[in-house]
Amino acid sequence: MKVFAPAKINLFLHVGNRRDDGYHALESLVVFADVGDELLIEPAKAFSLVLDGPFGAKLANEQDNLIAKAARALGAKACRSPDVKITLTKNLPVASGIGGGSADAAATLRGLAQFWDLKIPHAELHAIAETLGSDVPACLLSETLWMTGRGECIEPVAGVPPAPLVLVNPGVAVSTAQIFANLKNRVGAGQAAKPKADLSVLALADYFKSNRNDLENPAREIAPVIGEVLSVIAAQGALRTRMSGSGATCFGLFADDKMAEEAATKIANNHPDWWVTKARIV
Ligand code: C5P
Repeated sequence: MKVFAPAKINLFLHVGNRRDDGYHALESLVVFADVGDELLIEPAKAFSLVLDGPFGAKLANEQDNLIAKAARALGAKACRSPDVKITLTKNLPVASGIGGGSADAAATLRGLAQFWDLKIPHAELHAIAETLGSDVPACLLSETLWMTGRGECIEPVAGVPPAPLVLVNPGVAVSTAQIFANLKNRVGAGQAAKPKADLSVLALADYFKSNRNDLENPAREIAPVIGEVLSVIAAQGALRTRMSGSGATCFGLFADDKMAEEAATKIANNHPDWWVTKARIV
């Protein structure tokens, strides 16, 4: 069985206070892209994980991949051992603010629930997802969402168009925990407005004026190249540019597919060591 694990993009991300459990209260408009990792699930005598794709090698030294954790957690819930071989084609850069590991964990839950033909209610899958990471419940749904809480309170939201994007990662892995720890000016979560109607791409660009990514400044302090990435995307005619999640991946919103395609090609040519892709919100 093949399962797609789409990239997650935070169109904005407001961060509030640190809660008693150590996590920060968030507010975010989360979308998913038509680019992502791919999982292949096959029957096997014991669990194994094969890493493939352009960024597979980056995960080779990881002690316990989130895919393995997700498989074990769902196996325990279903009272069965996770005897499957999972091949991960890792297309998304690692530790890059676009969901990667969370998307893979969520795809494992979705895929194995179907592979094992489990009649498990979504709420139970959501509960397992929460134990795996703050973004995993959102990735389980993989549709445009309004996110609050530490990331676990999610609600599908309408109005965001299938806009063309360019995603750029400068090849610097950043630790989410470190970026949150470096947050100084916490403006807060809980004041953003949801899209009021079905937005055009231009109206979506306008909507960006009323929100921000609060993790952008702390991330730029740790990885100054993020500032360069944002300028490079803007110079190609993006309507808006912003960092996603805790970075370092940034995105540009473009007026049409052709402009996005051309921008992606130019950026990739000028920066052969960066990861650059044209994408679309799905
Ligand atoms: O939940 P996840 O493992 O993805 O979070 C990684 C780290 O990011 C947490 O250990 C925490 O330091 C930080 N974080 C946070 N508030 C959130 C989500 C993540 O402080 N809402």
